[in-house]
Amino acid sequence: MNGLRLHPQSSELSERVRSRLRAYSCVQYGSLSLPSRTLLSPLAGFTNLPFRRLVHELGGLGLGTTDLVNARGLMAGSEKTLRLIETHPLDRPFAVQIFGGEASVMRDAAQFLEARGVDSIDINMGCPVPKVVKTGAGASLMCHADAATELVRAVVEAVKLPVTVKMRLGWDASQLTAPRFAREFEQAGVAAVAIHGRTRAQGFSGTVNRDGIRQVVEAVEKIPVVANGDIRTIDDAIAMYDETGCKAISIGRGALANPWIFRQLAEWEATGSWMPAGSFNDRLALMRRQFVYLQEWVGEETALSAFRKMAHWYTKAMRVGAALRQAVQTANTMEEFDEALAAIAAAGPNGASKDGVLPDFQIPVPAGPNERW
Ligand SMILES: Cc1cc2nc3c(=O)[nH]c(=O)nc-3n(C[C@H](O)[C@H](O)[C@H](O)COP(=O)(O)O)c2cc1C
Repeated sequence: MNGLRLHPQSSELSERVRSRLRAYSCVQYGSLSLPSRTLLSPLAGFTNLPFRRLVHELGGLGLGTTDLVNARGLMAGSEKTLRLIETHPLDRPFAVQIFGGEASVMRDAAQFLEARGVDSIDINMGCPVPKVVKTGAGASLMCHADAATELVRAVVEAVKLPVTVKMRLGWDASQLTAPRFAREFEQAGVAAVAIHGRTRAQGFSGTVNRDGIRQVVEAVEKIPVVANGDIRTIDDAIAMYDETGCKAISIGRGALANPWIFRQLAEWEATGSWMPAGSFNDRLALMRRQFVYLQEWVGEETALSAFRKMAHWYTKAMRVGAALRQAVQTANTMEEFDEALAAIAAAGPNGASKDGVLPDFQIPVPAGPNERW
């Protein structure tokens, strides 16, 4: 990392927000004190153990969350599902996100996770994937207030661990149910709610509705509301805090584009300024490190194919040309992978230097089944 220090004008807004945040002590999930107020949003297929560990190592992360985990699969002892809840001493604190439409299965899964020593349990109420929605789980719970509250209550009452819920603002613009749900979930005992500020019908289109998140913040009595959606810079985070009144935020795609964002936000909160994100060379080193963690975890063969999606984000953010990006994504052996990285290292970034600040990278809007997450 180069030693450049960015000093944005300490704008009145930035100072106002920092001073408001200073007035709140740290974010509490029940009895669990989070080390920072910036959380990693679950991103199925990306926020796996190696990535969470890496982001914790870079600093500033309050809590990582696993990909969503099928409560039924967990109780059936599915090997693939059990993999998703594996952790590491550096991956703490972490939450496991579970989904399911049956209160009894969700309760059993929560007790199982508590016995395994996880720090917190997050209930998914945003999953749009039809095979999840049609079982009465995920986003469909947003349309069934009583069933949703009963399910949440069953989980909360089954464990001592903090239980949180992640949801969108509602099913569509005519049903912005999140404020009411958040209030009811608080009464049922949840430790926090996380809100992606869009409706399910909206997919990822348009901009995040901060006013809608504010309504959730105003609807609850004392639990933290974790505001989520489209945060990719310090300015985005400042706007989120300012316009919603929230005490915590979570970042998904922005963390793939810039895994240093958690540390930058901690620096901003403490001093008003922050170090730039990693350079091309830093990112290359980080990419290798993440691959090593992945390889240690799942073995070389699986790691090579599982890393492709992640390599796409890294190489895009690093301004690597299309042909070299392709080479790293199609590597089938360790030799091919190493050769592709060596070629990337030699070529450097398009239109930027290897150890300076990289130009901004536009975060893509997900396509396919993820577009309604
Ligand atoms: C590829 C992808 C996978 C996602 N997986 C999950 C998931 O497993 N559970 C969940 O609650 N949300 C999931 N989400 C939604 C994100 O957690 C987050 O709410 C959303 O991306 C908006 O935040 P962002 O703009 O910071 O990315 C996913 C989103 C994407 C793009």
